[in-house]
Amino acid sequence: ATLSFDVSQSKKISDLLIGIFFEDLNYAADGGLYAELIQNRDFEYSLHDLKGSDKSWTSTKAWSLRGVGGTFTIDTVLPIHANNKNFAVLKISTIGPSLVNEGWSGISVTEGEKYNFSVFARTPENITKKLIVRLISKDGAVLGETSVTVNSLKWEKIDTVIAANQTIADASLEILPQSIGTVNLDMVSLFPQKTFNGRKNGLRADLAQTIADIHPRFMRFPGGCLVHGDGLNNIYHWKNTIGPLESRKPQRNLWGYHQTVGLGYFEYFQFCEDIGAEPLPVVAAGVCCQNSSDGGAGQQGGMPMCQMDSYIQDILDLIEYCNGDTKTTWGKKRAEAGHPKPFSLKYIGIGNEDLISDIFQERFEMIYKVVKEKHPEITVIGTVGPFEEGTDYTEGWNLATRLGVPMVDEHYYKLPGWFINNQDYYDKYDRTKSKVYLGEYASRGNALYNALAEASYLTAIERNGDVVHMTSYAPLLAKDGFVKWKTDLIYFGNNYIKPSVNYYVQKLYGENSGDAYIENNLALSDSKETVRRRVSASVVRDSKSGDLIIKLVNLLPVEVNTHVKLNGMDKMDTTAVQTTLTGNPGDKKVFPVTETCTVGSEFKISMPAYSFKVIRIVAK
Ligand code: AHR
Repeated sequence: ATLSFDVSQSKKISDLLIGIFFEDLNYAADGGLYAELIQNRDFEYSLHDLKGSDKSWTSTKAWSLRGVGGTFTIDTVLPIHANNKNFAVLKISTIGPSLVNEGWSGISVTEGEKYNFSVFARTPENITKKLIVRLISKDGAVLGETSVTVNSLKWEKIDTVIAANQTIADASLEILPQSIGTVNLDMVSLFPQKTFNGRKNGLRADLAQTIADIHPRFMRFPGGCLVHGDGLNNIYHWKNTIGPLESRKPQRNLWGYHQTVGLGYFEYFQFCEDIGAEPLPVVAAGVCCQNSSDGGAGQQGGMPMCQMDSYIQDILDLIEYCNGDTKTTWGKKRAEAGHPKPFSLKYIGIGNEDLISDIFQERFEMIYKVVKEKHPEITVIGTVGPFEEGTDYTEGWNLATRLGVPMVDEHYYKLPGWFINNQDYYDKYDRTKSKVYLGEYASRGNALYNALAEASYLTAIERNGDVVHMTSYAPLLAKDGFVKWKTDLIYFGNNYIKPSVNYYVQKLYGENSGDAYIENNLALSDSKETVRRRVSASVVRDSKSGDLIIKLVNLLPVEVNTHVKLNGMDKMDTTAVQTTLTGNPGDKKVFPVTETCTVGSEFKISMPAYSFKVIRIVAK
């Protein structure tokens, strides 16, 4: 093959092309990215969370009473907060029984690390109670211990630290009363001191770092279908997810579990800031999912009109929470959470894969017009509708065009062949219409072949970076043993992370993005369509560094030797960095290999069979 281009022949493209899609699906937040180690810390799990399919899923889930001479019950009289009505009542008549939390299929602790333990407690008898709090292994070994004293009739927050003396993946937390009588406990929390960027109530450091390593330019939150929920009472309301943890409003997660919302909007905005990603919150368009199973209302039961004004105000308040100064109502709340400086919100998504019904259109339009009028500085992203096979996006596009929505969110999960055969998808897009955010896509597999199909499609996305503004592979995270949606980008367990091969494609694109696309010509000795579609290239330039980045994808079973003819780059380092991802098409464990190569105005490079290669030429 011959790849030729002139660096001066370029067009401006979006510098936000690679981002991330976060949804609390597959235990992505609770038990995942959110670093809390205690499961059901608030005793708010309910049978309803699982729609009754698992009878063990109650407010005592993950908790058990050990030993004899005690009782463990749940009460709701005089809770810490109305949003957090359940608490534990631990009553003992002899020293010995203890209350144990199993964590998220075990608590993973590391020798020498410190863990912050906190609890809200009270003594109804108004008699001082001492509790030993310790980490224990399955065979009862004590892995770290502390004690707390409860001496208040009213709820009081107690904080202490436990240091772990062993590394173990499946510890439990044990609370062992040392005084006879009753204690009430709630918000029992164990948090590693080591969180990502040392944030309080923060994120699991290793997982957050794996995400940060993608160099995502934006982060979408909180989903996905989670945004609109599967019933009007299941819509994600951002105000329920901020403020003191004990006052947040947990709710059923439509993916079949429970959301503590401990990783709420504040933690999300802070993470975006920490990793240099633009926040992209998505709010429901006043409708729930059309496939709602909860009561079967679907969009037929869109939010009642009498609630729309207050709902729209909530959206305006979210913008104020991000961007308002500390004198504003919501800017003040952000400052109280520890962030006086605005978060600088530029984008907001309204709706997620909604059926473009009359009910949806009416509500979307109401929200869109107010946000646009009050916040012309914010780019609103609409939706073009559900991604199901056979659905076309005409209705959604018509709505967006009629209202002049600046950007629309498209989703598609397709087989690799679709991505290989549709590389001209955006070449045909009308540049005068809305820009595109490809908010969810994946080629339904975690083998090298899938990753290469996605890499190849992304060369076409870069070429169309004037109309496609952002993309995010979906879903991002999946905890082994709790995978509800396949396939995902990063798999993990309590003490390990297994990025998929698709992850390395995202990472290589994220690390090697540009803001100018260099027009190029890839000539193959065999020009058959089937061959041509399986070899693709993209050339971009990053204006900050001046670096030139060449991406080459070979989906053929044979090596393709490539002659690169590069014009117009006067000052470049002749030693470039090349990173290659290659293997057998069915391989799931493939890692990028980085080495140096010699470049110049003409050079030869090999594309191994089934490979993705990135060559970064450094400007001098
Ligand atoms: O990414 C998983 C799900 O796929 C999202 O929640 C939804 O938007 C889409 O259907």
